[in-house]
Amino acid sequence: MDTIEILRTASKLVYENVKDLAGTKEATSGNFGRGAGGDISQNIDIIAEKTVLDYLKEINFDCVVLGEECGRVELSPNPKGFVIMDAIDGSANAVRGVPFFCCSLAFATNEKLSSITDAAVTNLSTGDIYWATKGKGAFLNDKSIFVHDEKPIYKVIGINSSGSSPELLQRLAPIFEKHHHVRHFGANALEMAFLAQGLLDIFIDLRKKIRIQDMAAGYLLIKEAGGLMLDENLQPLDSDLSYETRLSFVAAANKEIIDEVFSLIK
Ligand code: IPD
Ligand code: CA
Repeated sequence: MDTIEILRTASKLVYENVKDLAGTKEATSGNFGRGAGGDISQNIDIIAEKTVLDYLKEINFDCVVLGEECGRVELSPNPKGFVIMDAIDGSANAVRGVPFFCCSLAFATNEKLSSITDAAVTNLSTGDIYWATKGKGAFLNDKSIFVHDEKPIYKVIGINSSGSSPELLQRLAPIFEKHHHVRHFGANALEMAFLAQGLLDIFIDLRKKIRIQDMAAGYLLIKEAGGLMLDENLQPLDSDLSYETRLSFVAAANKEIIDEVFSLIK
């Protein structure tokens, strides 16, 4: 089976197993402590991760899993690569029942973002699946998707500002002043998928807080949809896949929107 089929099947199984859990008591029952990514793991996170791990074991997929909760799990002595897993991205939304959370899976051949070859992000409220294979384009279900590359009627700017320092908020303030359609929905991978689909023009996260698991799949989706994935210095983004790594990034449909937004914040 192709790697992309494996990721797609795993995230579809997650959808089947968690779709009725959002906003319920069961989503948060039990006590699982903190996961490898540093956040408190909820039952819904554990159920979703177990779904992916059980499936990968069942099909004997030779890989190392880098999970947000379970940490590094070596499923084979001869791995073909790394499955970067955020089985529930947007856990706070899922727990509250806000219908914006997803399963984010990526496959990398080496321990670098730039070696990601396959990605699948499933919207766990709708079952829609965004997926991409390096060099073959990006898709939503069975249709190709592309970033929005025409002059938009309304520019929609995504900014992850949660937990920002006062200095960063001050730096970002001119964007909020100039642009009236600033959004932050609360599930990084799905916001990146929205950009790949052409629903946002730019999505920036300059907090130096995002984990690899939250953005690995979105990274390939955006590049395959024709968008740009840059670091905070507006250089092509790359990174190791370490658990200590925290990133800032700028994802955009094109250079013009980056120039416009960054001319406001210097
Ligand atoms: C979080 C979401 C959120 C972002 C946080 C992430 P999680 O992921 O992507 O939008 O602001 O930085 O940690 O914890 O729900 O997997
Ligand atoms: Ca998570």
